[in-house]
Amino acid sequence: MNRLLLMNGPNINLLGKREKDVYGEFTLQSIEEELSELVHKYGGELESFQSNHEGELIDCLHQANGCYDGILFNPAAYTHTSIALRDAIAAIDTPVIEVHISNVHQREAFRHQSLLAAVCYGQIVGFGKNSYRLAALAFLESK
Ligand code: DQA
Repeated sequence: MNRLLLMNGPNINLLGKREKDVYGEFTLQSIEEELSELVHKYGGELESFQSNHEGELIDCLHQANGCYDGILFNPAAYTHTSIALRDAIAAIDTPVIEVHISNVHQREAFRHQSLLAAVCYGQIVGFGKNSYRLAALAFLESK
């Protein structure tokens, strides 16, 4: 489980500037750097992709199929709306872990439902930056 892909959806590029009380002060770049370091320690490789566009995220999932051992995916608001992303995750063989920085279950009711979780390998929510780290460890330590 050493070739990992980090995917982030809409507005995650604004981490560090956006709703800091909810998402903290860290940036996407700092997540990418720290995760890369972690994955390297396990002898693996991490690639990263962020898009604000649903179709680009779907294309990325299709292209990732078979190229990685696991995908860490924060689909952001598309978590709660996108049947198309759910179908894309269900269509590929590569396991996907759904990641959220905030505890979506403590927030507005519309964030309580994930359309994606049922087709994901697992889901990690609410640990801030560490949500990504825990998701990566779930893959890295799985064998
Ligand atoms: C989020 C939670 C989503 O509800 C929200 O739309 C986001 C970020 C999180 O990481 O906590 O953009 O996915």
